[in-house]
Amino acid sequence: MSKDIRAIRGMKDILAQETPVWRHLEATARRILESYGYDEIRLPLLEATSLFERSIGDVTDIVEKEMYSFIDRNGDSLTLRPEGTAGCVRAGLEHGLLHNQVQRWWYAGAMFRHEKPQQGRYRQFHQIGAEAFGLAGPDIDAEMILLTARLWRELGIDAVRLELNSLGTPASRAAYRERLHAYFSAHRAALDADCQRRLERNPLRILDSKNPALAELIAAAPTMESTLDTDSRAHFQALQAMLAAAGVEFVLNPRLVRGLDYYTRTVFEWTTTALGAQGTVCAGGRYDGLVAQFGGRPTPAVGFAMGIERLISLLGQVGPGQGCDVYLIAVGDPAVLAALALAERLRTALPDLRLTTHCGGGGIKAQFKRADRSGAAIALVLGDDELGAGTVTAKFLRREAAQETLAQQHLEVQLPSLLARARG
Ligand code: HAM
Repeated sequence: MSKDIRAIRGMKDILAQETPVWRHLEATARRILESYGYDEIRLPLLEATSLFERSIGDVTDIVEKEMYSFIDRNGDSLTLRPEGTAGCVRAGLEHGLLHNQVQRWWYAGAMFRHEKPQQGRYRQFHQIGAEAFGLAGPDIDAEMILLTARLWRELGIDAVRLELNSLGTPASRAAYRERLHAYFSAHRAALDADCQRRLERNPLRILDSKNPALAELIAAAPTMESTLDTDSRAHFQALQAMLAAAGVEFVLNPRLVRGLDYYTRTVFEWTTTALGAQGTVCAGGRYDGLVAQFGGRPTPAVGFAMGIERLISLLGQVGPGQGCDVYLIAVGDPAVLAALALAERLRTALPDLRLTTHCGGGGIKAQFKRADRSGAAIALVLGDDELGAGTVTAKFLRREAAQETLAQQHLEVQLPSLLARARG
């Protein structure tokens, strides 16, 4: 194949043998989100670049170097969404859904970040996320965490742990920024170029540096704890009490600052050591200032998003495709015509039946080969003899049994029990 028609680096095909696991995960998440009263919203993949610059923050990795931005034919700068929260806030404000209202929303879909691709890190990846607006207390933070904990339980994922921190109010965060600025300024010469730049614009981001040479310096930096305001402290303690009462284990991580700038108070991450470097499978927190920042009335908000690819790797059970139940073989032109009609009739009568009609002609041997590869439990054969007699011949493909002749007329009635026998 010519080199220029390959998938774009970091953008993965999800092939037929993988989609059953995806669908299982998506269906489980949807069911749980809806059982907590969250409604689905679907938002555009493209937004104005400024939306992300102003919400995620311009001294973040995402905005500085990871956005897929381009100028469209009107000369406007557009960006493929790197995350879902900014779009939710934009949509909520645009449709007047946030003021004096409580909203619980969820979304699922592709996000785009121009990161260096590696295991668990892609340039197009998928998130399922949730956002709640209009609720200021720690109870909704706890609800979000309980919801995700339930999802792990139902999916059978137990290799995850919950890390928690509080970033306080914008004012206490600003005080913390000052403390960090003073601390890292005293060690300016030890910082790498990236962190020196961050020092002036956003010293909190230095805590996120992955440079091993800075690990010790970062470990000794002052923590947010020391500047946390009284209300944020009470909020954080109440959240911890709620989680403890609900039996959700967590660890406090004072270094958890998150890679996006909009957070206030609670931040959390579900992490695993089972996936190497890309161990965060779900992350979120409060962003009480973001709605006002976009010109809305002050509206508390909290949310999270999980990385589907990472959860799929944790589930780790990519099996064969589901295939079909019944493979319909037709030999000769008249039989092909009759088979199409018979298949339509069976699909109407048995909506859950997975029936593949052989297409592309060929002799009976070749068709049986395809039937075998399809994963079907039964092959139904329609040839000249069967057509003349108004019957079909049924052959079990996965177990020894004599073939059977069935009347076409009653096939929909007999097929379910025949399938049960064919599967043993
Ligand atoms: P985030 O931490 O940037 O937060 O992303 C959430 C999750 O998406 C990550 O924990 C990870 O599982 C997955 N993820 C992120 N980048 C990649 C990638 N390049 N490849 C594969 N998976 C990835 C947010 O996006 C916030 N909007 C979460 C939020 C919602 N906060 C409040 N509401």
